[in-house]
Amino acid sequence: MIRELEIVRPDDWHLHLRDGTILKAVIPYTSETFGRAIVMPNLNPPIISVKEAIMYKERISAACPDDHSFKPLMTIYLTESTDLMDVAEGFSRNLISAVKLYPAGATTNSSHGINDFKKLYKVFEKMEEIGCPLCVHGEVVDPQVDIFDREYVFIDKVLDPIIRTFPSLKVVLEHITTQEAVDYVRISKKNIAATITTHHLVINRNFILAGGIKPHYYCLPVAKRENHRIALLNAASSGNSSFFLGTDSAPHFDTDKESACGCAGCFTAPNTIPILAQLFEQEGSLEKLEHFTSINGANFYDLPLNSERIKLIKEKDPIEFSNKVFTPEGEITVFDPGFPVSWSVKSI
Ligand code: DOR
Ligand code: ZN
Repeated sequence: MIRELEIVRPDDWHLHLRDGTILKAVIPYTSETFGRAIVMPNLNPPIISVKEAIMYKERISAACPDDHSFKPLMTIYLTESTDLMDVAEGFSRNLISAVKLYPAGATTNSSHGINDFKKLYKVFEKMEEIGCPLCVHGEVVDPQVDIFDREYVFIDKVLDPIIRTFPSLKVVLEHITTQEAVDYVRISKKNIAATITTHHLVINRNFILAGGIKPHYYCLPVAKRENHRIALLNAASSGNSSFFLGTDSAPHFDTDKESACGCAGCFTAPNTIPILAQLFEQEGSLEKLEHFTSINGANFYDLPLNSERIKLIKEKDPIEFSNKVFTPEGEITVFDPGFPVSWSVKSI
């Protein structure tokens, strides 16, 4: 049995850090383990220009502990009036690493997002030309479409036409939750990839709804049936270079989640790598963990692998993770996988 494993320091290819008090409270959990992260721009108001992304990056760097060598990779939030020259200049000067597409109203702070995808075609054309990745929240928002079908319908009705029109555009279908998304990415060309979250590898929809509503398991896209979770786990643990970790760690105050209209998001930054080690061990695929957490994403984004490494250690007993993060403005609940986790992480 493997009790120790050394891997290249992981990256998180989809992360919410927020701003102000929450940013300060949550960033050490990511920066102590991860080398880089693609930082989501869905602040309120969102980060819609390169200038705003630069200022946000400075706030992130200021909040990051001095002894952590973490590099935030910035994104901007596409609106129907995004200036394509701003994207082109920001990407060519390495000020942004990707651009994020939210369908209007799909999730937290997405009201400034896109209603008419055709309005973005000039921007997509430019991004295709310069190799700038498009990160996509892949859900339709049509109230007629059942919430459990929204990802599948998005792939069919929105994503596939975009990819056919811009066949060389680099696209990351974010936080996939369905067998259909896995299949779509698997048969696509190498410029189409997907991130998979830690929580979608652990939970199915019963976690949210069976035996009482559990708001801390509610996220978007919402977790689906067990067969979909298994499809995600198979994709993540296969080593296939088109699938990589994007935790979508999304901190919210407990008061905002435990409410009559609770917001979406699971906060997984503190225990993501131990949970993944436990899952991959159960799958008999520990040797594929590094591909998922540390290699495939960097290759997709044309970045070098992190030069540092981390060590994963299987302890004799399960680890007691703290289940709350305390901030001066409120508490944030850490994701509970519902099974014992015995792996710990050390920087080396
Ligand atoms: O669960 C989610 N939370 N999904 C998203 O797409 C956004 C995120 C957030 O920002 O809270
Ligand atoms: Zn997200």
